[in-house]
Formats: sequence, C-alpha cells, structure tokens
Amino acid sequence: MKLRTSARPAAVLSRRTRPAGTHPNPGPASPAFPRARRLTRLPPYLFAEMDRRRRALLAAGHDVINLGIGDPDQPTPAFIRRAIAEAWKISGVHQYSPGEGTIEYRSAIAQWYRRVMDVEVDPRTEICAVIGSKEGIAHLPLALLEPGETVLVPEPGYPPYTSGAVFAGGRVHYMPLRRENGFLPDFEAIPSATLRRARILWLCSPNNPTGSVAPRAYLERLVAFARRRRILIGYDAAYYAIYAEERPCSILEIPGAKEVAIEFQSFSKTFHMTGWRIGWAAGRAEVVSALRDLKANLDSGPYMPIQHAAAEALRSGDAEAAKIRAMYRRRRDTAVAGLRRLGWEVTPPPATFYLWGPVPLRAGSTEFARRCLEEAHVVVTPGNGFGPSGEGYFRIALTVPEARLREAIVRLGKVKW
Ligand SMILES: Cc1ncc(COP(=O)(O)O)c(C=O)c1O
Repeated sequence: MKLRTSARPAAVLSRRTRPAGTHPNPGPASPAFPRARRLTRLPPYLFAEMDRRRRALLAAGHDVINLGIGDPDQPTPAFIRRAIAEAWKISGVHQYSPGEGTIEYRSAIAQWYRRVMDVEVDPRTEICAVIGSKEGIAHLPLALLEPGETVLVPEPGYPPYTSGAVFAGGRVHYMPLRRENGFLPDFEAIPSATLRRARILWLCSPNNPTGSVAPRAYLERLVAFARRRRILIGYDAAYYAIYAEERPCSILEIPGAKEVAIEFQSFSKTFHMTGWRIGWAAGRAEVVSALRDLKANLDSGPYMPIQHAAAEALRSGDAEAAKIRAMYRRRRDTAVAGLRRLGWEVTPPPATFYLWGPVPLRAGSTEFARRCLEEAHVVVTPGNGFGPSGEGYFRIALTVPEARLREAIVRLGKVKW
C-alpha cells in the first residue's frame, strides 16, 4: 500500500450539501436530522455483519467462543475493589471531582513513574486524569489541531486516532505497519510536504493489534525526529503492563521526550478495569494544560472513589500486575502452541494479549473470519478491520480462560481449510 493522505470517502463527496440557514427537507431520502459530516467521514465499521451473525448464533443457542474483543474476562483484583468500597463511604467524594484528577491520584502517578522508571513528572502541571485512555486519545486533537492540519496515524491501528483527528477537522496520514519493519511506523518515509502540516504522530506500543513493541533505540530516533520536526508524539501505552519477558519502555524514559510527547496510560488492561473508565495523560506541560482546558469544557473528572482505588492500584498493585501478566503469558503460549499444531504461522507477541498472524488460507481476512465464525463458532477479528494494511491477517484476543482457548483450537482444527 502506498503512503497516502486519506481522501474523503465517496459517500461524503456525493452527499448533497444544504445551504446554510435552510431547513432540511424531511423525507426518507433526506432525513430530518442528517448526521454531521464529521461522522460520515469515519471509515466504515467492518465488524457490523460479523456482530450480527455472532448475536444470531448466540440467540439460536450456539456456544460461541469470542476471541474478538480485547476486554479482560477476569474481575478487577480484590484489593482494588476493597479500596473503592472504602473510599465510597467518605463524605464529599460523591461530588464533582477536579477535572485534571485529584492531587492524591496525580501524586500516585508521579510516584509510580519515579519508582518504576526513575522518571520525574510534575503532578501539578504534567499529568491529567482521563476517563479511560480512549477519551484522552480521542480528545487530544481537539485541544491541539487547527482544521486542515495533519495527524500521523499507524495503520492497522486503534480507531480513535482517526476519529479524533477527523472530529477536529484534521487530515489523517496513515503510516502502514509492515512485518518487514517489525510493525513499527517508518516515520522517516513520510513525505516532507506531509510533515510540514503534521502536528501529532501516534505510536501505540505495545501495539494493538500487532503485539509489537517499540525498542528503546527506535524511540530515541523518534524523539529526535519529533524534536527536529516539531511534531508531538501521542504515545498510547494502554498495554504497557501486559508483557511476557521485558518491560516495554515508557516514552517518558527517553531523554528529551517530555518536550515532545504525551503518554496515555490506562488501568483497563493492567488490572482488568475496562468498565471503570480511568487512565491518565502525562507529558509536556503545555499540552497537558491544553487537554485539561478542553476537558474542563466537555466533562468532569472521574468519580473520586475510582481515582482513589486507581491510586491504590499504582501504590500496591505490582504483585497483582505480575500475576495478570503471567496469566496472559500462559494463555499466549497455549494458543501459539495449539495454532502451530494446526500449521498456522503465529509468532508469540512480546506484549499485549493479542495474537496477530497471517490468515492460513488463500482467502482475505473477512472471508477467513467469517468461516471461523460459521464453521467453528469462534470469533476472530479480521485484520483489515484495523485498516487496509491489516488485510491478510487475523487477530485473536487472549481474553478467555485457557480451557476455552483449547476448545477454540480444537474447533478450528476441525474446519476443512
Ligand atoms: C490501543 C488501545 N489504546 C487505548 C485503549 C483504550 O483503553 P481505555 O479507554 O479502556 O483506557 C484501547 C482499548 O482497547 C486500545 O486497544
């Protein structure tokens, strides 16, 4: 695939425009409340048909194993649930919380950076609470981008990098992730005309969907590049704590990164807390300040007992996090060994709870995923759902217990590929 600046989808170009101030003509062809163009500019949702079939199979009483969704199956560790149960009883905690997060929460984050990686982050100016890292990621362009400016987005990748840029009136330039580059963006290949308009470059490491991890030397090159080009690195570290052997780098560990980077961290995967909606952004103070100001106009800080429990997770959750990591490593090894026995080419990812591999037959990703669902009642995600460079790949989420993984592999092994 060629590097490209995204063109507007055909649907947008053919959509009739309505002169300012006129009332839309109600009727089936022209809805009374047409969607804003920014919504129609998003790439199509490729999983809709598969979701429908999965629900239909479930409704018909079939046992569907869902390896599609990156939502941990295990409960939040008990010590975190106890922390929220205690905090909930304190008077005053049920009111609006400071948008940027309580000082207790931000201080726990700063202490965590110091303890784990010897990095200094100022809790007063360099940290902001977010309502799940998705919220911060999606809103960052709205705080920084002028319409028409460009956001550099890895592809295949997490959809909010695109939607955040589009909602802010920006352009998206996709950076394809290819196996031969270790599934890391080749930022040096971006044309200089594009770089001149670029304000933000997203990097997701550990990476969803490919499981790759950016090595320190790569991050050093990226930071030097961002400083030269005055581009902000948006570093998505949602899977930071889910690794098999070696702890991935935080971008803030790289000398000079704090001048050109903002890191998004999350409790969702580390501590099975997807439903709690809590994370943080940390990095360059003026960027954090812009995000805080934007959010002050959009939302309020996370519920205070949640912030308290999250702070407790950072202060005393290392042993639990290690157990969770070990669990995903066992699942990874079980799945890789089983799929290899079927002749599938899967490489154990160094981090994340995803397996990303080439489709083991001469069909596209969509057809392969369709057959997994129809013939084995196993949901796998077609790689092209994350962008065109994901065509020819599938993603499996290790978010079911090992016994279910084994069962899924038995079923997939019975399909006549
Ligand atoms: C790459 C990536 N970043 C960020 C998130 C958002 O996580 P949360 O909003 O739960 O913190 C996800 C969730 O799946 C993800 O896959």
